[in-house]
Amino acid sequence: MHLKGLQLTWLGHATFRIVTPGGRTVIIDPWIMNNPMCPASEKKVKHVDILLCTHGHGDHIGDAVEIIKQHNPQVVGIPELCGWLQKKGAKKIAMMNKGGTQTLGDIKVTMVHADHSCGIQDGDQLIYGGEACGFVVEFENGVKIYHAGDTNVFGDMAIIRELYAPEIVMLPIGDHFTMGPREAAYACNLLKPTTVIPMHFGTFPVLTGTPGELQKLVLGIEVVAMKPGATVSN
Ligand code: NI
Ligand code: MN
Repeated sequence: MHLKGLQLTWLGHATFRIVTPGGRTVIIDPWIMNNPMCPASEKKVKHVDILLCTHGHGDHIGDAVEIIKQHNPQVVGIPELCGWLQKKGAKKIAMMNKGGTQTLGDIKVTMVHADHSCGIQDGDQLIYGGEACGFVVEFENGVKIYHAGDTNVFGDMAIIRELYAPEIVMLPIGDHFTMGPREAAYACNLLKPTTVIPMHFGTFPVLTGTPGELQKLVLGIEVVAMKPGATVSN
């Protein structure tokens, strides 16, 4: 995996923190304080400039409102989800929809499709949250990372490869609520990344997929099985 100065930390489940060479902090899917996979040393969010939210399920935006209150980051998501976060106190909304790309400082964010659902549980209410999505992020050093969010494999991942060619992909492999290793291996055939970082496994007993199972199914692609709290930078 060639990060060219990015510092990439997995906080467990679908949550990643990326610090850019320019010193900006991006968090994808903020489920941190209440994320059982996140190590105690990482539970306090020290800083965030840009918050990317793939969809409204609690295991992805469960701590978004609290983090927004503390740090007032730019919030990127689909309009319905951003509208809800705005009602909960988000001030700097950078909403977008699928197929769109926006530049935030020196990073480019493209919203892409995901095959999943997207209700927001707000107390005893279930709010319409738009649709689930993924993101392709291009950093100032040229590195492109695709975070698939929660999704099944879908044929248009081939379009993501052809249009954006992300070399690093973060794919859910846990099964049950998303792809398992078999589907994720098929996704790798469509995306042809150099590196895949498995996510969304092991958090709950039903998320049974493992990086080892994925590695057996993909040839010529590096499977980087990170530990929650681990940082990769090179
Ligand atoms: Ni979900
Ligand atoms: Mn999920």
